[in-house]
Amino acid sequence: MASRTPIQTFYAGEAIFITGGTGFVGKLLTEKLLRSCPDISRIYLLIRLKKDKCPKSRLDEMFEKPVFDRVKEEVPNFRKKIVPVIGDLETEDFGLSENDENMLINQVSIIFHIAANVRFNENIKTSTMINVNATATILKLAKRMPNLKSLIHTSTIYANCHVKHIKERFYSYPINYKDLIIFTRNLNENIMEEKISRIMSQWPNTYTFTKAIAEGLLRDEMGDLPVGIFRPAIVLSSANEPLVGWIDNMYGPLGITVTSLLGITRFHRYNPDIKANIVPADFTVNGLIASAWDVGNNQFRRGKDTFIYNFVSPDDRPTWNKYRYTLLEANKMYPLRNAVYFPLMIYFKRKIPYRICVWLGHFLPALFIDAINICVNRSPRMWKLYKKLDIFSDATQPFCNNEWKFSTDNVQAMWNRLSEEDQQLFKFSMIEFDWTKYLIDLYMGIRLYLLNENDSTLEMSRIKYKR
Ligand SMILES: NC(=O)c1ccc[n+]([C@@H]2O[C@H](COP(=O)([O-])OP(=O)(O)OC[C@H]3O[C@@H](n4cnc5c(N)ncnc54)[C@H](OP(=O)(O)O)[C@@H]3O)[C@@H](O)[C@H]2O)c1
Repeated sequence: MASRTPIQTFYAGEAIFITGGTGFVGKLLTEKLLRSCPDISRIYLLIRLKKDKCPKSRLDEMFEKPVFDRVKEEVPNFRKKIVPVIGDLETEDFGLSENDENMLINQVSIIFHIAANVRFNENIKTSTMINVNATATILKLAKRMPNLKSLIHTSTIYANCHVKHIKERFYSYPINYKDLIIFTRNLNENIMEEKISRIMSQWPNTYTFTKAIAEGLLRDEMGDLPVGIFRPAIVLSSANEPLVGWIDNMYGPLGITVTSLLGITRFHRYNPDIKANIVPADFTVNGLIASAWDVGNNQFRRGKDTFIYNFVSPDDRPTWNKYRYTLLEANKMYPLRNAVYFPLMIYFKRKIPYRICVWLGHFLPALFIDAINICVNRSPRMWKLYKKLDIFSDATQPFCNNEWKFSTDNVQAMWNRLSEEDQQLFKFSMIEFDWTKYLIDLYMGIRLYLLNENDSTLEMSRIKYKR
């Protein structure tokens, strides 16, 4: 057998349970584990049933995506290691069958709890069930696993956006998880919204709030379990592997970026001088893999807050202005064929001029087009679309108009504990990171993987752009 690095050795022979393995971060995590930890025995992927698709066909579709091309080449038999487990986070105990539950309890030694509802303004009941109650279920399962070495809970750096300096420690919250779950089960939606809106007033949305309460749950209930909490910043495309620029999700500021590049929206309430707290998805996944190793290997270091990792970009990260400028420059070279208008990203620091421009530049033209559509017997859709985009844009504003201070001592100490080989194989340090190249690759990734535009459309796009 070829020699193995300490992280590869840690994972050798282990069975991993991943929730959220079908999502953006989860796909990359599954791919990287299969490719770079060759002696893993099994990966159990929690999969919910969707639109009458059986788990096998969901997996077949997932593994057809280009992000799995490399692992197919390097580890041709990788599918043998994947075991789908049917479950839904919204159902009590995930609705696991008895067999599956026993299998997980007896086999699994490492858990990555990644699944979440990441919609910023999801209703509070759904957010609580998926982001809080499901974390309680994971913990309950983990407590029954005799071989558990490590459980990594994926949080977000903005779970604790109610403090200005976010340290790698637990915080207190105005409600505990038990009360929130009781409210969710017993109150109707309106009363719940009313009660919670006061309690969560320090958080900009239900997503960050429920992620915070999930951290509180872990603080109170994890006991001696080997639990780590990984808090990434805004995760964007992969920097290097398995594909440069790969991305398949449009949440957060990226959604706004894409609608701007397509010429659908023009005005945004961002402070261009504020730094964009973005991290590449492959670095995030490497950090997750290393943190499970760190937690499992360093139990003797265990203190209350030892295994909380703030995964943010370093101080030399780009401002939103540099982000905008670099993407627009890349767009000049590689315009989008499907753009409806020349792309503009006009940022406003202040609310009133922003609202005026949104009304004049987004809503009025939408009303005008809808009026024409009604006249020619077509359904009016533009107002609805711009209303949706406006809500979405409002939801991302807090993260693009405010700055926080972050402590990253645990992440840095973990990096220093990695062997040189692991630092290469599971690179997550962003020191001397080339942000300009990354942003150009991000643009190319948006163009190719999100908007399905490849070089065959380039000539046409360039002609259209010049017009
Ligand atoms: N992306 C970011 O910028 C970012 C930043 C910080 C932290 N995070 C955290 O990273 C994690 C992954 O985020 P992501 O960007 O990969 O999100 P994503 O692409 O939306 O993936 C979410 C995953 O959760 C699963 N899931 C959601 N509801 C479920 C349910 N009821 N039952 C079973 N599975 C369910 C989804 O399954 P389906 O495929 O069935 O929908 C999917 O696999 C989350 O915990 C998020 O809070 C993300």
